[in-house]
Amino acid sequence: MQAILLVGGFGTRLRPLTLTTPKQMLPVLHRPMLEHAVSGLARYGVDRVVLALGYHDDAFRAAYPDGLCAGVELCGVVEPEPLDTAGAIRFAYEESGMSAAAGTFLVANGDVITDLDVGEMLRVHRSTGAEATIHLIEVDDPSRYGVVVTDPDGRVRAFLEKPQPPAPSNWINAGTYLMEPSVIDRIAPGRRVSVEREVFPAMAEAGTLWALPHNTYWVDAGTPQTYLRVQLDLLDGRRGPAVAGVSAEASVDAGAVIERSVVMAGAVVGEGSVVRGSAVHAGAVIEAGATVLDSVVGSGATVGRGARVTDGTLIGERFAVAPGADLSDARVPQSL
Ligand code: GTP
Repeated sequence: MQAILLVGGFGTRLRPLTLTTPKQMLPVLHRPMLEHAVSGLARYGVDRVVLALGYHDDAFRAAYPDGLCAGVELCGVVEPEPLDTAGAIRFAYEESGMSAAAGTFLVANGDVITDLDVGEMLRVHRSTGAEATIHLIEVDDPSRYGVVVTDPDGRVRAFLEKPQPPAPSNWINAGTYLMEPSVIDRIAPGRRVSVEREVFPAMAEAGTLWALPHNTYWVDAGTPQTYLRVQLDLLDGRRGPAVAGVSAEASVDAGAVIERSVVMAGAVVGEGSVVRGSAVHAGAVIEAGATVLDSVVGSGATVGRGARVTDGTLIGERFAVAPGADLSDARVPQSL
């Protein structure tokens, strides 16, 4: 089966990290986020992934020059301008040479990290005869998401993007879809079209959209908190055996304390410093006596001697935090 991965967004919520690196090329535990998504799909027989590219498409080409990622063939298409989620699907489908003969295809938001059983989803999709099937996940606060109301048999009755509270359901669009080629004809060509605001509501109305409500591991890694959470979940063993966060190629002083953190190759952590619940990217330097809590230090960035960087702070690539500074929930540089 072929898949289209949507990876062309600006990733504004992860600025300034995304000013230099597109969101799906940011590291999640030593590997780009993209590789986690692609290897998840490969397990279920996806053998060709079309990347719907836009913002910083060059970073993807540079990382996979031979067109292979996690053993899967990669093909990239670049929109002339951002066409939004459905516009991107139509553009990627046509530009990459996909055709109706290949049948059902998968679409996923590139920042979704999940253990969804795509095989089970495909079985449901086939048994209902759906034109498209959406994976749903249950959340406590659905107000920031696309809320989906289904009949008992799974047919979607309503698709409401970010509805006013109270939401009619706690089941939300989890960002993985199976689609029949006919969905492409529902997307107007050459303009911005949102799958969440236009295409799915119209299909719900027509009665051709189905859902698979399934609570499995799922994180939308597009915010500072969730970008950190997917990594801590791997360290904590929430998705299989716990993995080590500190690279063998990092240099950590014997007098430093590192807890539940990712420290990547070439990073330096100085004497008396504390790094907890955080990600320190490749080549970053945490100087002596500095504290980094629940934050991300971008590649090649420096946290000066004795500084405190806490509570969801993001330090952009190669930027420096002055010695003794105290930053909480901050962006360096301040986001544009
Ligand atoms: P924020 O700016 O932080 O909201 O992030 P984002 O730009 O990634 O937007 P969002 O998370 O809502 O997008 C969902 C998925 O669709 C992400 O994987 C994006 O990369 C992708 N995406 C959003 N808009 C476009 C677009 O116009 N073209 C393409 N190719 N992908 C898009």
